[in-house]
Amino acid sequence: MSKNYKFYVNGEWKESESGETIDIFSPYMSQEVGRVQAISRQEVDEAIDVAKIAQKEWANLTVRNRGEYLYRWIDELLAMKLDIAKTIMEEVGKPYSDAVKEVERTVDFIRYTIEEATHMQGESMLGESFPGGNRSKIAISHRVPIGIVLAISPFNYPVNLSVAKIAPALISGNAVIFKPATQGAISGVKMVEALHRAGLPKGVLNLVTGRGSVIGDYLIEHPGINMISFTGGTNTGMHISKRAGMVPLVMELGGKDPAIVLEDADMKLTSKQITSGAYSYSGQRCTAIKRVLVKESVADELVTLLKQEIEALTVGSPVENNQIVPLIDDNSAEYVQGLIDDALEKGATLVIGNKREGNLIYPTLLDNVTSEMKIAWEEPFGPVLPIIRVQSDDEAISVANESEFGLQASIFTKNVDKAFSIAARIEAGSVQINGRPERGPDHFPFIGTKGSGMGAQGIRRSIESMTREKITVLNINE
Ligand code: NAP
Ligand code: G3H
Repeated sequence: MSKNYKFYVNGEWKESESGETIDIFSPYMSQEVGRVQAISRQEVDEAIDVAKIAQKEWANLTVRNRGEYLYRWIDELLAMKLDIAKTIMEEVGKPYSDAVKEVERTVDFIRYTIEEATHMQGESMLGESFPGGNRSKIAISHRVPIGIVLAISPFNYPVNLSVAKIAPALISGNAVIFKPATQGAISGVKMVEALHRAGLPKGVLNLVTGRGSVIGDYLIEHPGINMISFTGGTNTGMHISKRAGMVPLVMELGGKDPAIVLEDADMKLTSKQITSGAYSYSGQRCTAIKRVLVKESVADELVTLLKQEIEALTVGSPVENNQIVPLIDDNSAEYVQGLIDDALEKGATLVIGNKREGNLIYPTLLDNVTSEMKIAWEEPFGPVLPIIRVQSDDEAISVANESEFGLQASIFTKNVDKAFSIAARIEAGSVQINGRPERGPDHFPFIGTKGSGMGAQGIRRSIESMTREKITVLNINE
């Protein structure tokens, strides 16, 4: 029987009194890799109650004291690096070398977060600057923790995207309720084990496991939660934003990032960047390139080069670091296959792919995709890339902006002036020039607009979102 992983409340590992567990199946091993607790509402209440008490003392520590705990967390994560990477691989099917990189990136993230918070200072303002003001008033502004942060993460970066919420929350004096994706919860448990070994005071972080569809609404509507940091699908994000009430939200959601390719692009670089952008981890990245908008005059050349690049991709198990790996589950593969079928039925040209073995979808490139096809607009979260041929820069911009999403976009051209002028007109949080969309380096602001989210992540922005300004005004009465 596979291992039964416990949840974590008030510094203790517990089995749920519900007696219920959730089986976690590996996407590629056809076997269960463990079971996590399906905790009850009462246990959610307990986690939030203890967090509330623990947060007060935690916030009273200096930022340097809190940083010491997080530095110890780094040491423990490094000691567990290969174990955690293996768990990520087994649980979410990420290529092993990428899983190792995920842990290393996470460690760098925590280190930078400590340094950033240590160097963030408040400001003072003089009353005399305002019309009619005088020197008798001085405002001192500094940031204080928001209280209890609910961190909800997705399956595809079960460690990195969880820590991207937890580390900024902790360093700034908040307590955390961490709800990992169910498929990804074992990786979350291991990461919290490292934090436990680092000696984090009881109750400062509590790990609650259970299906979002069962405990999610209870968590997001809970009056004890002071801020929600969510990463996941757009539908889930919209659902949360409708129910959360007057609680600050940061949401990083789905995407349909376009790669716009102009006539003068360096085609070799462009095809390499698009291939890696679209197909890494089988396209299961929010920032994956999910459509190509290419000028008709260079479309044939680009398609030929993309086909060559795609033929060189390796397909199979994540254990051997294949680039194309089985999708997270059968439903996801079914959905991706449906998008491919719909496009082919409506006249798209199959350049390569459309082969499937269970939840393993071979990398697929579709040319001559039109706006009637679902793949032109929907996020596949799988290894299929549509090519949409456009006649002008204006058409490229208009198709790019017609999407409900607005995460990132790429523009490939040697004309930097043109790149900047197009970038200014694209509705997205970030625009990359001559590179694939991506979140890192992790101190860059990471922003979703429209259906891709609200608020900003990126280390400093995350710290700011999990704190609020507090103003103390000195009145000088002479
Ligand atoms: P998801 O199905 O939306 O799940 C995300 C998280 O929300 C999981 O922890 C899930 O728990 C939880 N959840 C589900 N229903 C909930 C509810 N009613 N209340 C509270 N929490 C609830 O997304 P996913 O399949 O894990 O991830 C893929 C999606 O995330 C893609 O659309 C991708 O683009 C997006 N994503 C965006 C970013 C970004 O930074 N913009 C990064 C990564 C992924 P369960 O697992 O228990 O259902
Ligand atoms: O899946 C969404 C992640 O935020 C993407 O991160 O661009 O580093 O792969 P990445």
